[in-house]
Amino acid sequence: MFITFEGGEGAGKSTQAQLLEVHLRAAGHDVVRTREPGGTPGAEALRDFVLFGGHDLSLRAEVMVHFAARCDHVDRLIRPALARGKIVICDRFVDSTLAYQGYGLGQGDPQIVDLIQALGTRMGVVPDMTFVLSLPRARARARLAARGQRSDRYEAADEAFHTRVADGFDAIARAAPGRCLPISADRPADAVAHDIAARVDACLAARAATDPGPA
Ligand SMILES: Nc1ncnc2c1ncn2[C@@H]1O[C@H](COP(=O)(O)OP(=O)(O)O)[C@@H](O)[C@H]1O
Ligand SMILES: [Mg+2]
Repeated sequence: MFITFEGGEGAGKSTQAQLLEVHLRAAGHDVVRTREPGGTPGAEALRDFVLFGGHDLSLRAEVMVHFAARCDHVDRLIRPALARGKIVICDRFVDSTLAYQGYGLGQGDPQIVDLIQALGTRMGVVPDMTFVLSLPRARARARLAARGQRSDRYEAADEAFHTRVADGFDAIARAAPGRCLPISADRPADAVAHDIAARVDACLAARAATDPGPA
């Protein structure tokens, strides 16, 4: 099972990905938790390049860097882990490229959106469940200020950009209601985690009921 977390910076993706890992491990599952951009040594180097390198790439080029990192991550880590029956939890995936590069930077330019969607279909893996965390921007900003990490180039962008990204995530969730589960993140972390764990547990139970298991 492949589970992804999406949403704007500060919504609580990393917090919830970690809490879900703990929950699933406690139930005896084999879990790999990873993140994008990054997750493998090469993809982490590309993360540093694209988030902190200070380069001004054309938008298409920037999309390609994200997908180059993603290809390495999928080929070297995600697909092999899924093939070995592990549950993979990934903090951001293709939806983030669509929201940030397609809707945020690209402002919905159909050529960029098409490019991202086309590349997305060629990754060879599709999330089974995607939790799309939403949080009013002012609340996210307050959490980020308290977290106090260095901001990357997207966090430092203007508010209009963040509004387009949030609207993009809403549109993505509406377009794929079977896969995407919108989650209000404006609650204590354990309440959010409880909802997420219930959804994942229900999905695992449904799978166990239909899977005949080893003969
Ligand atoms: N539900 C929550 N309520 C309050 N603070 C939270 C909640 N979830 C996460 N945080 C805190 O907010 C900050 C951002 O959370 P984080 O998980 O890093 O977000 P993201 O990965 O989406 O950027 C962190 O300092 C985290 O401890
Ligand atoms: Mg995070």
